[in-house]
Amino acid sequence: MRGRFGLGAALAVSACALVVAACGGSSSSSSSGGGGGSSSSSGGVSVTGAKVIDPGSMNSPPKGTIHYCQGKDTTGAGKAVVSEFNQKYAAQGYKVVLTEFPASADQQRAQFIQRQQAKSNDCDVFSSDVIWTAEFASQKWLYDMTPYINQSRTKYIPAPLETVHYAGKYWGVPETSDAAFLFYRTDQGSAPPATWQAVYQQAAKQGGIVYQGAPYEGLTCDFLELGFAAGGQVLDSSGKKSAFNSPANVKALQLMVDGIKNGAAPKAVTTYMEPETDQAWTSGKYGYMRNWTYAYAADNTSTSKVKGKYKVAPLPAFEGGGKAGILGGHNSVISTYTKNPGLALKFSDFYASPDFQKTLLLKFSQAAVIPDTYSASDVKKAIPYAPELLQALRQAKARPVSPVYPQISQAIYKNVNDALAGRVSPADAIKKASDQINSALSTF
Ligand code: GLC
Repeated sequence: MRGRFGLGAALAVSACALVVAACGGSSSSSSSGGGGGSSSSSGGVSVTGAKVIDPGSMNSPPKGTIHYCQGKDTTGAGKAVVSEFNQKYAAQGYKVVLTEFPASADQQRAQFIQRQQAKSNDCDVFSSDVIWTAEFASQKWLYDMTPYINQSRTKYIPAPLETVHYAGKYWGVPETSDAAFLFYRTDQGSAPPATWQAVYQQAAKQGGIVYQGAPYEGLTCDFLELGFAAGGQVLDSSGKKSAFNSPANVKALQLMVDGIKNGAAPKAVTTYMEPETDQAWTSGKYGYMRNWTYAYAADNTSTSKVKGKYKVAPLPAFEGGGKAGILGGHNSVISTYTKNPGLALKFSDFYASPDFQKTLLLKFSQAAVIPDTYSASDVKKAIPYAPELLQALRQAKARPVSPVYPQISQAIYKNVNDALAGRVSPADAIKKASDQINSALSTF
C-alpha cells in the first residue's frame, strides 16, 4: 500500500514538474479553495503564478477561525460585520476575529506588509485601501479572485470594482467605496460655498475649516481634491513621468497655505488625520470640515457638540478650474498565506452582500458598493445626500495606479505638509515632490 502510494505521489510530482501550467503553483488544496496558477497581462503589465480562488470553496469550507485585519474601527462597521457573520455561521463552526490596525492608512499598509513578508497568516482577509491593489498583487500576496468576481461583475458600482482590477485580473472583493464632502454648520446659517476660494473666505470669518493635513495618505487625497479641481495632474498620459509640477498644483497649494497663514484653517491641521479632524469638528469650534462620508454618522453622536447641526455638500469647484473628488474605499483581499481561503471568501462575500451593504450605508454612512442600496427609502431618509454620494463615486478620480504608488503619494504628502507648515514655498514643494515622483517611477 505504502509503496504504491509513494510511487503515485512521486509520479504526480514529476508530472507537475514537467507540466507546470496544468498543476499550478499553488500549495493549498483545491478542496479548501486554493489551487491553480494564473498568468495575466494587460496594458503591458502582468502578474504571473498567483493562486486562484475557487468560488465554490466558500460553500462548505473547513470549520475554523480566520482573522480579518483592518484599520482602526472608528465607525464600528468592522465590529458589526464580524459579529453579524459570527452570529449567522457559529452553528456551522465558522468564526472571524477582528484585528484592528492604526487609523493611519500608511500604518495599515506597513502592518500588512510586515506580516506578508514573514509569510504569516495573521490576516486571512485584509481590508485593503483601493490604492494598494497593484502593489500587493505584484508582490504575489493576494489570491486572484477573478473567477469569483466574474460570477457577479454587474452587481457592483463600476468605480469601486475597477479598484480591484489590475493586470487584467480581479484581486479582491469591493467592501466600501468612499468620497469626501464639505461639512458645514446649519446652526450658523451658512450655505455651502460654490468654490474652494469662497470656502476659505467664509471659513476665515466663520470658525475655520478643518481637514487632514498630517503627512500621510489622507493629505494626498485632501490636496489632490484641490489640485485636480484646479486642473493639476500627478502623472502624464503615459503614466511613466510626473506631471505634478504645474501652475495649477502650485495655485491649489498656495490657497491651502494662505488658509493656514490667515487663520481660515488652524495650524494644527498639519497634524490631523481623520480621528483628530473628527475631534476638532465635534468640539463645535469650527464652521467647515472636509472629511469622508463616514463622518456624517460618526460625528453625530450624543457627545458631539455639533449633533444635528450640520449638513454635507459635494466638494466645491476651484475658481478658474472645475470640480474634482478623489475615489477612496477598501476591498477585502485574501492573503496567499491563509490556510482557509474558502472561509476567507465566505466572509468577503458576506461583507459585499446586499444586507450588510445596506447596514453600512444606513447605519454607518459608509459608501455601499452596490448601486441599489442608495435608492431604498429608509436609506434616503437616514442619509439625505445618498444620491449625491452615489454621483460622487461615479465621478471621482482614481489616484494613480502603480506598484510604486505609496512612494508617489509620500512625495506628495511630505512636501505638501512642509509647505502647509511654512517650511518651504508652495512652488518649491511642488517641484520637489515632482522630482521625487520621477525617482519613484524610475525604480519600477
Ligand atoms: C479613507 C479612504 C481611503 C484613503 C484614506 C486616507 O479611508 O477610503 O481610500 O486612502 O481615507 O486617509
